[in-house]
Amino acid sequence: MISPATIQQIQGRLDIIDVVGSFVKLKKRGSNYLGLCPFHNEKTPSFTVSPGKEIYKCFGCGRSGNTISFIMEHEKYSYVEALKWLAARYGIEVEETFRTDEQKQVQQAADSLYIINSFAQQFFTRMLLETEEGQDIGLSYLKERGFREEVIKKFQLGYSPEQRDAFTREAIAKQYNPELLVKTGLVANRNDQLVDNYRGRIIFPIHNHSGKVLGFGARILKTNDKAPKYINTPENEIYVKSRLLYGSYFARQAIDKADECLLVEGYTDVVSLHQAGIENVVASGGTSLTPDQLRLIRKYTNNLTIIYDGDAAGIKAALRGLDLALEEGLNVKLVLIPDKEDPDSYVNKVGPAAFLSFINANKKDVILFQLEVALKDAGNDSTRKAEVVNRMAETISRINKAEDFTKQQDYIKQCAEILKVDENGLHTLVNKFIRDRITAQERKQPFEDAARNEENARRAEETGYDENTFNLLFKDELQEREVARILLEYGDRNWDEHQLIAEHIFEEMVDESLIDNQTVLQLLHQYRNVMHQDRSAANKNYFIYHTDTKLSSLAVSLLNLPHEESEHWRREFSQSTGYQQQLFRLSYEDFINKVKPDNSEDLMNYLKIGEDKTHEEVTSAINYLKLRKIKRLLIENQLDMEKEHSPEQFRMLSETHHHLKEMEMALSQKLGTVVIR
Ligand code: CTP
Ligand code: MN
Repeated sequence: MISPATIQQIQGRLDIIDVVGSFVKLKKRGSNYLGLCPFHNEKTPSFTVSPGKEIYKCFGCGRSGNTISFIMEHEKYSYVEALKWLAARYGIEVEETFRTDEQKQVQQAADSLYIINSFAQQFFTRMLLETEEGQDIGLSYLKERGFREEVIKKFQLGYSPEQRDAFTREAIAKQYNPELLVKTGLVANRNDQLVDNYRGRIIFPIHNHSGKVLGFGARILKTNDKAPKYINTPENEIYVKSRLLYGSYFARQAIDKADECLLVEGYTDVVSLHQAGIENVVASGGTSLTPDQLRLIRKYTNNLTIIYDGDAAGIKAALRGLDLALEEGLNVKLVLIPDKEDPDSYVNKVGPAAFLSFINANKKDVILFQLEVALKDAGNDSTRKAEVVNRMAETISRINKAEDFTKQQDYIKQCAEILKVDENGLHTLVNKFIRDRITAQERKQPFEDAARNEENARRAEETGYDENTFNLLFKDELQEREVARILLEYGDRNWDEHQLIAEHIFEEMVDESLIDNQTVLQLLHQYRNVMHQDRSAANKNYFIYHTDTKLSSLAVSLLNLPHEESEHWRREFSQSTGYQQQLFRLSYEDFINKVKPDNSEDLMNYLKIGEDKTHEEVTSAINYLKLRKIKRLLIENQLDMEKEHSPEQFRMLSETHHHLKEMEMALSQKLGTVVIR
C-alpha cells in the first residue's frame, strides 16, 4: 500500500488541467476548459474540465471524475497504479507501507529487470538505426517488408548484431548484475562465458500496459537456419506470457474508442495494422488465449474479433480459447484471412480500406462458425452428428451469465435450426450441462469456502435462524459499504442550502442497527464526530490517511472498487436497474441535445446535473439499506408469527406484517426494483 504521506503529497501537487491536458487538447472557456472527449468518438468538443472543482465531465458519453479517476479510466490503471503514475510525473518518491521483506525483494528484482530491459531496448534501437550492420541488415529487411521508420520507432523495434557478445559487453561495462542479465534472457551463460542470446535478429520489445518493457521477441533474419524463428524472453518476475498481450500498450485507447479488440497472432501483424491506421489490435503470440489475457481484453471491451490465417492450426488455436471467452461474457467474432495470407501480408496487399471492409463483411459469430466446421466434419454420420449436438449444447451452456440470457436463447434457436433438431430438446440439453457444471463446482468447492459455510451454519444455529435466512439477514454487507462509500465520496458536498450530504445521510439513517460491519460502523461514528468538531475536516482524505489501518484500508477499498460492488448488490435486489439507467440516460441525453456547453451559464447547469446524479446516488444507497432493514424485520416478524400466539397477538403481528409490506413496496417502487416475495 502507498503510504498516506505519499498520497497526501501527490494530492497536494495534482493539477487536473496539467494531467488531463497531457492526453486531451484543452481550450479555455470561461473558468473551465473544453476538449474532445478521449472516451468516445466525437467531432465537436463536449469534454469539460473544471480546474476549480478539479473534476471533468463529458456531455456526450457522461463519463466524469477527478484527476485520479481520469488516469485510472484513461490508462486503465488501478488506484495504486494511477497514484504511482502521478507520483512519477511530479517527481514524488513513493513510500510504501505493509510490505514483507519477501514482497520487497520481488519488487526490487522486478524493478531491476525493467531497468535492464529499458537499457537493452535502447541498445537494440541504436544498433538498428545508427550502426552500419543494423541499417544494412536489420533496417533494410524491415523496410523491404514495408515497415516505415515512423512505426519502427513507435514500437521501438531494434536489431541485435551478429557479434557474439555485443550486448553483454556493454551491459557488463555498465555494471548490470550478471545474474539478472541471464534472467532477462538477453544474456546466456555458455561454458562459464556470458554471451548474447539474440544474434543477428530483429527485436520486438514487449510492453506492459503502461509502456514499460517486459521482455522481447527476437525474429531470425536468415531463412536457411535451423534456429527457431523467434526467441522469446523466458518467464521471470515480470515476463509472464499468459498475462500479456503484445501491443496492448499501443492499442488500449483505440480499443476503448472502437469498443472492439482485434486479436491477431503475430508481432508483425500488430505492427503492420498499426501502420495502416488500424490501432485496436493486439497479438496473443500464436497460442490460445488464457483467462488472464481475456480479462485484460474485458477491461477495455466486450467485443473480441479474432483475425487468424485460414490454415487449420490457426483456426484450432482460435477455437481453443473460445469457451473461456464465452464464460467471461465476451462477444466473440472470427474472421479468417484467405489465400495463405496473414493479417500483415494481407493488409499490405489490399490496403487499409479494403482490409477493414473485408473484416467487417466476413465477421462470423464464433459459435455458429464452430457449428459449421463440426457439421462439415460429421457429414452424414448420425453418431457424429449427435456428438456435434452435444458439443454445441456444452458450448452454449458456457454462456451462463445472467445478463447474457437472451444471447443464450438466441443461440439455442439458431443452432437448433442449423442442426435441424427440436429447439426444446436442445434447450433441455443445454440446461443439463449447466446443472452438471454447477454440481461439479460444488463438489470441488475450496477448503476455505467450506470452512466459511460451516462457520455461518454454526452462527445461524446460535441465532435460531435457518442458514438462508441468516445469510439474507446478516451476511450481505454490500449495502452498508455502499452507504459508507457515498459518505466518503460525497459527504463534504452540499445536499441543499442548509445541509451537507453527510448531514443528510446521518439524519436519514436514524437507526444504527442497520449497520452490521463493525468497521463501517466505526467509520460512520468517527465521521460524525469529526464533522461535529469541524465541518470541513470530515472528508475522504481524513479516512484515507487515517492512522488506524483498519479504517484507512476500508476507505481505500471503498473508493477503489465502487462499480463492481454496487453493480453486484443492485442485481441482488433488482433486475430492472438496467431499465432504470436507460431511462435516466435518455433524459440526460435529451438535455445534452438541448444544451451545448459553450458558455459558463450552461456549465453551471452541467454542474447541477452532476449534483443531481449525486442526489440520486445518495438517496438510492440509503433506500437500499432501509429496504434491507425492512426485509429483515419482515422475516423476523414472519418467524414470530409461526410461533403460538393469542388471537390478539397474532392480529398485531399480522398488522405489522402488512405495514412492513407497504413500506417495502413503497421503497421498492422508489428504487424501481422488483419485490420477489
Ligand atoms: N512465435 C513464437 N515462436 C516461434 C514462432 C512463432 O513465439 N518459433 C509467435 C510469435 O509471437 C509470432 C507469432 O507466434 O509473432 C506468429 O507466428 P508467425 O506467424 O510465424 O510469425 P509472424 O509474427 O507473422 O512473423 P513473420 O510475418 O515475420 O513471418
Ligand atoms: Mn507474418
